[in-house]
Formats: sequence, C-alpha cells, structure tokens
Amino acid sequence: MDFVNTTFDELRGLLRNRYSTKWNRYDSEVIPMWVADMDLGVDESIVSAIDDASRNFGLGYPSQSLMDELNSSFSRLYARKFNGKIDQTLTVATTDVVQTIYIAISTFSEEGDGVIVQTPIYPPFLSTPKILKRNAVENRLKVDDDGYHFDIDDFYAKASDPKNKIALLCSPHNPTGMVMSRELLLEVSKICAETDTLMIVDEIHGQIIFGDTFTSISAIDTDADYIVCTSATKAYNIAGTRCAVAAFSSKGVMDKFDAIPFHLRGMPSNIGVVAAIAAWDHADPWLSRVLDHLNHNRSVLRSFTERSELFTIPKNSRATYLAWLRFVDDSQPWKVLLDKAKVGCSPGIDFGESGNYHARMNLATTTATLEEALNRIEKYL
Ligand SMILES: Cc1ncc(COP(=O)(O)O)c(C=O)c1O
Repeated sequence: MDFVNTTFDELRGLLRNRYSTKWNRYDSEVIPMWVADMDLGVDESIVSAIDDASRNFGLGYPSQSLMDELNSSFSRLYARKFNGKIDQTLTVATTDVVQTIYIAISTFSEEGDGVIVQTPIYPPFLSTPKILKRNAVENRLKVDDDGYHFDIDDFYAKASDPKNKIALLCSPHNPTGMVMSRELLLEVSKICAETDTLMIVDEIHGQIIFGDTFTSISAIDTDADYIVCTSATKAYNIAGTRCAVAAFSSKGVMDKFDAIPFHLRGMPSNIGVVAAIAAWDHADPWLSRVLDHLNHNRSVLRSFTERSELFTIPKNSRATYLAWLRFVDDSQPWKVLLDKAKVGCSPGIDFGESGNYHARMNLATTTATLEEALNRIEKYL
C-alpha cells in the first residue's frame, strides 16, 4: 500500500469490510481515528506464517514446542532491542494484554485494594480495577508547556498506603506518548520495592518510539516484583490474532499468576502464536518503514498545530501512534469532531476526568487520510 497517497475513499474500500471494528463503528463518511488499529496492512512474513499454518495442518491444538518458540522469540526480541532480561522459563502466554492485567489484578490484590494508575490513561486501566471491585487510585500526570510528566512525589505517597497493592504502569504511555526514562523507572521501582507494591507494566507500545529510547522494566536491576505485559499486536498491527505474553520477575510471582486454571485463563490460538513469532523474528524491515511513516504523520499534525489554534498536542510525546489533542474551549471536543467534521476520535473523558477538553486521534493511517481529517477539522470547527 502507498502509505502516503492512498485516499480516504480508497482506504474505506479496502477496510470497511466484515472484519474491522474500527471501520464499521461509524457511518461511511466518518474517518475512523479511534481504536488502536493501523490502516497500513501487515507484513508479508506474517501473512505467510498464517497461510502456512492454515495449509499445513497447523490449526489443531498448539504443540508445546510452538509455545516454547513464542517465548524464545519474545525473549530474543527484548534482548536485541531493549537489552531486556527475559527469562524464557518465566513467561506465560495469554490471549491479550488486558486479559493479563485482569488476571494479575485479581491474583495479587483483594476487593477494596487500590491499583495506582497515571491518568489520563488507556480506559481499561480504569475499568478493570472497577469491575474487579478494586479502586483505581489516580496518580495524575503533571502537565506543563512541554507535555506530561510523572508525579513521583504523589506516586510515593500513594504507594506508601498499604491499601494500594499494585502500580499499573503504561510504558510508554497511552494516550500522552510520555516515555519513562531509565532514571525514572529506577526511582519508581525503588519505591515499589520499598513499599511492597507489585508493578504491572504494559509495554505494548514499547517499539513505537520516535527520537527517544524505550526502557523496559526487564532491563532494570530491581528488587521489586513485576509483570511485563506485551504483545506484537500494536507494533505489527495484528490485534485480531489474539496472542500476548506475560513475563515475571521471579518464579514466585509467576506461580501465583499461573494458579488461575488454564481453562479459565484461555490460551492464544495457533494463528496468534505464529503471527507473533513471524512479527518478532522477521517483520523489523516492515516496522521500520511504518515508523518512518508514522513519524511523518506526526510532523503533519505538528505543522497543523503550528498554524491552527484549534488544539494543541504535548511537545514531549515520543511514543505510540496516538495523538492527545487538547482543545481550548470545548470540554467535549470529540462530539463536534464527529458531528461536524465527521472525524471519529476517542472521547478524552474515557481516559479519566483529566481527559475533558481532549480527544485521542489515531495517526496510523495514510497521510492523505490524515490530511483530509485535518482539512475537515479546520473547515467545520
Ligand atoms: C496500552 C494498551 N494496552 C493494551 C491494549 C490492548 O491490547 P490487547 O488487545 O492485547 O488487550 C492497548 C490497545 O490499544 C493499549 O493501548
């Protein structure tokens, strides 16, 4: 696909099909820029791995050796890209990252306990504790002219409260694009070790970084207990294949997590497993082309904010393909974006109270489509 010139009409012809939730949520004239799927297809290595499994009797129950391949592909990726130290024997496959978070919160806390989250935040970080009858304890990000910053003093105060058992971190951060530095992660993990707070670290956007370095918690020398949750689904655009990985800081933590019966937990499909292995082992050239393109779209958006006063974006956003738009005088901008401009962004309020005045825009589309969305916004808002 031509990432730059493919028009909205052409994309709609390709993507408004029986499969896509992103492209079927709104009327056909709406440009869908909400859920974190990319409009950019997938790498051939993934297509051919799925094709191979389908044609070569690979759709039965997965073999143990295939699951071992998944774990070793994952730990190789982390070593290669992040200097991460993933012990293959301390990993468990799940169907998706949010499922991992559900299992971890229900295993490592009791009803009424607190789960510390950095708001504004990816909505399941708020809904999961609530559904499990825990409290999502807000450690609100600080915001200044540069963008969003972790509030370490407030975090320390909250982690020191014995009711708060878990720190649920999104690193890098959705929706603000904040990247946690090694120094910050060291500080956070030191606090968690001191206060006996389990770190659940969602690193799903770890490979989608622009002009910065992603630090995995697995690359930090720490006494804190942690669980890394990630998958290939965001970076390689395969969210429908359902396969994720959880990696643990120790056997004790893993055994506790693993006590949830396997049938209750579910497990990924062969399709998900082969897709993830192909992505991690073979799709880096594709990813690098996509990252260049996303960076281009980020600069298109940035130029727009330099000439239009409709909204601003955090300057220090250096991760994810999601842009966090702040509108000056409309507390619910997602409504006019949809009703007037026919651009379907995610409502800021879904990310917590500090999401008022915001909308989240997914930039992982073609440049022509992004430009059409921005033209409509300029014309109709
Ligand atoms: C931070 C974060 N975690 C998890 C997910 C969802 O992952 P999964 O489909 O594996 O649950 C997303 C999807 O957008 C996300 O942004």
